[in-house]
Amino acid sequence: MTHPDATVLGIETSCDETAASVVVRRGDGTGEILSNIVFSQLDLHAAYGGVVPEIAARSHVSVLDSLVEKALADADKTLDDMDAIAATSGPGLIGGLMVGLMTAKALSMVSGKPLHAVNHLEGHALTARLTDNLVFPYLLLLVSGGHTQIVLVKGVDDYERWGTTIDDALGEAFDKTAKLLGLPYPGGPAVEKAAATGDEKRFRLPVPLKGTPEPDFSFSGLKTAVRQTAEPQAPLSDQTVSDICASFQRAVCLSLADRLDIAFSRFAARFPDIADRALVIAGGVAANKALRGTLAEGADQHGFRLVAPPMELCTDNAAMIAWAAAERMAAGIGGDPLDTAPRSRWPLDSRSETVMGSGKRGAKV
Ligand code: KG4
Ligand code: ZN
Repeated sequence: MTHPDATVLGIETSCDETAASVVVRRGDGTGEILSNIVFSQLDLHAAYGGVVPEIAARSHVSVLDSLVEKALADADKTLDDMDAIAATSGPGLIGGLMVGLMTAKALSMVSGKPLHAVNHLEGHALTARLTDNLVFPYLLLLVSGGHTQIVLVKGVDDYERWGTTIDDALGEAFDKTAKLLGLPYPGGPAVEKAAATGDEKRFRLPVPLKGTPEPDFSFSGLKTAVRQTAEPQAPLSDQTVSDICASFQRAVCLSLADRLDIAFSRFAARFPDIADRALVIAGGVAANKALRGTLAEGADQHGFRLVAPPMELCTDNAAMIAWAAAERMAAGIGGDPLDTAPRSRWPLDSRSETVMGSGKRGAKV
């Protein structure tokens, strides 16, 4: 079925990136990003070793208007050309969400275009349809600073969360490990770099939840194990830091591989007739090369292909929010009322239970 083309302005402010983008979704289901502006607040938070919610919200306020103007100008469009205005409405840090959603409401009011209050996770979940024209259903592994989930993406607005973290998000575990070892924030790239020259077998760290039947995640025990490993080694030499990082990264990879084995088998049993099976990865941690290697190997063994959208679309951005709104419009889902409230917690799968650490993007300090 074809739908009219939809051009959407998207806004993302759920954590420490302020972003605005214009995306068009054509009637045949293909899409094009006309502009995609991201302002990272990394420098503002680095001194604190994590995202400070109040600083994040204030920074969104000061840059969002100009980002929206630039996104429209780069796309060579005006507000009048938009078919809808979309903003992340949750999950995330509430101050930031309020800034983005209120801005979208104001733009919707003045332009008369419908408002779409988008779930941030739906943005991540549907990105691969913009970049790779993926068809439903497929598996999504979302690994970021705020989320760690395995989701079955069945359709627009139709998700099953198969696994989530019961404590820390994976990016958070990288960041905390880095902090413990005296490495800079954000910890992920620093840990990966140190691990490259480390001996992953020097320290034997536990592989979280290995062998448990549900594909959930847990990283706080691993973080404690890193601390208990590091303390007796103090003062830490560069080589010891590298060896701990490599051992940590190995435990993470083994855990993810073990958790995904369950999801791959479950998908194959549920959809035996689907030949083109795909695992999509998203989130900042998906930049990790060791992790990508492990995932590619596991996917290959189970007859899945690994779909990794370009990194700038794996991490937080507004193109995914505009695209999700356009997908919702094409699926016949209408806009949201102007009194829609932002939600710091908002699970993608409304049937899933609330689990500590899931569906939230909390402060990492
Ligand atoms: O998706 P993202 O950019 O945004 C938020 O969740 O805010 O993810 C950021 C997270 C941080 O925790 C960072 O340490 C982690 O992704 N990260 C990595 C790597 N690059 C970023 N973790 C492991 N290896 C990396 N190369
Ligand atoms: Zn995200």
